[in-house]
Formats: sequence, structure tokens, C-alpha cells
Amino acid sequence: MQLILLGPPGAGKGTQASFLMRQYGLAKLSTGDMLRVAAASGSELGNHLKDVMASGGLVEDETMIRLIRERIDQQDCEKGFILDGFPRTLAQAEALDDMLATIGRELDAVIELNVDDETLIKRISGRFSCAHCGEGYHDVFKQPNTPGVCDVCGSAEFSRREDDKAETVAKRLESYNRQTAPLLPYYEQKGLLYQVDGMAEVATVTRQIASVLASTARPS
Ligand code: AP5
Repeated sequence: MQLILLGPPGAGKGTQASFLMRQYGLAKLSTGDMLRVAAASGSELGNHLKDVMASGGLVEDETMIRLIRERIDQQDCEKGFILDGFPRTLAQAEALDDMLATIGRELDAVIELNVDDETLIKRISGRFSCAHCGEGYHDVFKQPNTPGVCDVCGSAEFSRREDDKAETVAKRLESYNRQTAPLLPYYEQKGLLYQVDGMAEVATVTRQIASVLASTARPS
């Protein structure tokens, strides 16, 4: 199964991708996570990526397409994958179509998580994650079961993202509306776009996505 989660910053793409990865045994390809790892390397490319992300803009298509092309070739993608944060431009969407055609796969669904701007900002401003395994949490909506201890790996170290500052969030929203929202009609025309109410509770959103996936399942 190949699935894209689309939606603005804070819509819940990463949260849902983590659940779906466990539920369906799919690989989770989060370009934001990949870029944050690369940015932390301190290399020249890493510093460039860090600057672009801090500006709220998008990293160049060429870099992103190369990153995903290499990632899709890895063994854990054989059963299928969830794309979280890719594609973000029409050029990336077209390159993805080519990549999938080359490996004889098709997209099963593109799921748009709909969330209003006020909620997005509340979600982003309370977000933190495990510094060890990356599991995502929120000050109000999703605290670890034991305060200060990651539910998944037991680490007690957490971090907050640099690009979650209010001024950067506004620019990320603007980039989404200008460069990524045009992908919605692109996928709608292909009959692949499904809308999910991302304002609901996390578990309800997961159930809505599972029901879309059940309706698109191909006979085996
Ligand atoms: P990226 O890391 O992809 O950031 P984003 O798209 O802005 O999305 P977020 O990670 O902020 O939000 P999310 O939708 O995953 O929400 P989450 O689940 O965390 O990209 C960062 C940067 O990298 C970009 O700005 C760009 O510079 C660069 N980049 C990445 N990909 C690129 C590409 N393809 N091309 C070019 N550049 C690229 O949820 C948010 C919070 O809300 C969490 O705390 C969570 O616990 C909580 N929450 C989630 N769901 C719910 C719910 N239903 N109810 C209540 N709380 C919820």
C-alpha cells in the first residue's frame, strides 16, 4: 500500500503516520524528520537545510526528489509506505508518479487532513517529541502516559522544534497554501483524494483513515 498524508503544518500527518506505520506494518517516510537528521550533521548541506527550514520555506525539489528516490529503494518499503510531508510541490508529485511507475507500484490514496488555522497554531505551539525515538506529544492533547517518560522507548529526554516559533509557523502556512495546496486538485483529478476531518480526536482521525483505506483496498 502506498499512501500520502497531505495537510498544513500541525494537521496531524506525523501523528497519524506513526499509528498507521504500526497498524499496517508500512514504512513511514517523513521528509521533515529526514531533513532534521541531515540538518543536525553540521555539514555544508546540513547548514543550508537548517536555514531553509528556519525560514519556513521549502527545500529545493531536486534535493527532496533524490532523498525520496533513495529511500523508496530500501527494503523496509517493500510492503508499502506512508509519505508524510512529500510531495509538497507539483514537480515533486510528478517525480513521485515517475518513481512509482518505475518500480511498478501505484498510489492507493491521498488523504487530506482538514484542520482550521487557529487549531493548527495551538497544536504546533504545544508540540514536543522524544529526543531519542521521535515519538510526538503535546502539552495539552497528548501527554506521555507516565509524565516525563516516552511511551515508546522510555527515554526521559524531549525536544521542541526550532521552526515552531510563531513567525516561522506563519511562513510555513503561507508556503503550504501557495505551493502545496495546488496538489489537492492534482490528486482529485486522478480520483485519489479523500478528505478526513483532522479536527477530531487523534483516535477518531485514525479510524476515519482506516475506513478510507478499507474502501480503497485492492483484492489480493
Ligand atoms: P515537516 O516536518 O513535514 O513539517 P509540517 O508539514 O509543517 O508538518 P508538521 O510536522 O509541523 O505537522 P504534522 O502535520 O506532522 O502534525 P503533528 O502530527 O506533528 O517539514 C518541516 C520543514 O521541512 C518544512 O517547513 C520544509 O522547510 C521542509 N520540508 C519537509 N518536506 C519537504 C518537501 N517535501 N519539500 C520541501 N521542503 C520540505 O501534530 C502537531 C501537534 O498536534 C502534535 O503535538 C500532536 O500531538 C498534536 N495532534 C495531532 N493530531 C491531533 C488531533 N487530532 N487532536 C489534537 N492534537 C493533535
